[in-house]
Amino acid sequence: MNFFFTEEHLMIKQTAKEFAEAEIAPSSIERDIKGEFPYEIVKKLGELGFLGMMVSPEWGGSGLDTISYVLALEEISKVDASVGVIMSVNNSLVCWGLEEYGTNEQKEKYLRPLAQGKMLGAFALSEPEAGSDATNQHTTAEKDGDYWILNGTKNWITNGTTADVYLVMAQTNRELRHKGISAFIVEKGTTGFEIGKKEDKLGIRSSDTCSISFSNCRIPKENLIWEEGKGFNFAMNTLNGGRIGIAAQAVGIAQASFEAAVKYSNERKAFGKPIAELQAIQFKLADMATKIEAARLLTLQAASLKDQHKDYALAASMAKLFASRTAMECADEAIQIHGGYGYVREYLVERFLRDAKITEIYEGTSEIQRLVIARHILK
Ligand code: CAA
Repeated sequence: MNFFFTEEHLMIKQTAKEFAEAEIAPSSIERDIKGEFPYEIVKKLGELGFLGMMVSPEWGGSGLDTISYVLALEEISKVDASVGVIMSVNNSLVCWGLEEYGTNEQKEKYLRPLAQGKMLGAFALSEPEAGSDATNQHTTAEKDGDYWILNGTKNWITNGTTADVYLVMAQTNRELRHKGISAFIVEKGTTGFEIGKKEDKLGIRSSDTCSISFSNCRIPKENLIWEEGKGFNFAMNTLNGGRIGIAAQAVGIAQASFEAAVKYSNERKAFGKPIAELQAIQFKLADMATKIEAARLLTLQAASLKDQHKDYALAASMAKLFASRTAMECADEAIQIHGGYGYVREYLVERFLRDAKITEIYEGTSEIQRLVIARHILK
């Protein structure tokens, strides 16, 4: 597959790079230590049009393709993967699903402000007993006249405390199993909707993750997305695009690890010369560069298939599986090359390893990606 980047693609990549270096990098270490959400940065991302990149201008978005999106997301994640996931969830899991399956009223009320960065979104599928086994939903939604009444708990919600709008999956007919799951829009502040404990995480510490719960939470019937019973298909179709975003985030972390390793290898002297002249280091760098290029190409391939409206589920899972492992391996090697310096905060590479790990877990673990891939190739 060939990729020809247009002038526009290159301009977007450059804009993201400059923004990340100027606006995100200076506070990244402090936010990581304190676990602080980047409110100002997210506001500026919205002003740049980076929170609704693929949404049509008709609904307040930037009207860009998925290739532009992954190029920008890689640059942002290269500097701070926490900001990367905030951006990825709003674009891929919230805006995309609303534009694809929402009514015009839902798009006007929610998609437009979400795409413009005036609201932030979250996606609520996982539950204490429904992670990889996502069809095992315990949250329920019962019809009551013009309302749905939600009860249950969701966890691992990215943008959990900071979002304004949540796309929530719930059982509307347990007997039908996954065909009895429906998707709903829930606004923060709705009576019976509670924000739970904020998680103290290993990595992506500047993004906020928490549980949320519903206790007789009444939402208007017009907040049902797509059709009753289509919620699981909605979630799976949405996650296919989300996985491309997480692959791009992982490529960004891998690239950051590689660049830090190259810089250090050229500066650090051992045995009378820069360690970059030692074959032991050169081979590590060569392997890192090769894997990153492969991960990037898989990610671009998935993005390109999505842009061509072809089936991209297999490509998205392959990209996420490979890019997330690449991020882990590159961050690990970057620490090894730094030696003891790699083990302290000042040199950043320890954060890359902590941030990389989640890319093998969220939006479908690596085991789930293998399951999706196996089901496609064995068809
Ligand atoms: N794309 C489209 N549809 C898919 C799909 C995919 N990748 N994977 C499954 N489906 C569809 C199936 O076609 C089927 O639909 P129909 O019945 O209409 O044909 C339906 O989903 C159920 O699939 P299965 O019968 O295969 O069910 P299963 O239980 O054997 O497998 C699963 C389902 C693939 C394991 C699924 O539960 C899954 O993907 N689990 C992982 C969940 C996940 O990724 N969670 C991420 C949470 S969100 C998050 O992390 C966001 C964040 O905040 C960062």
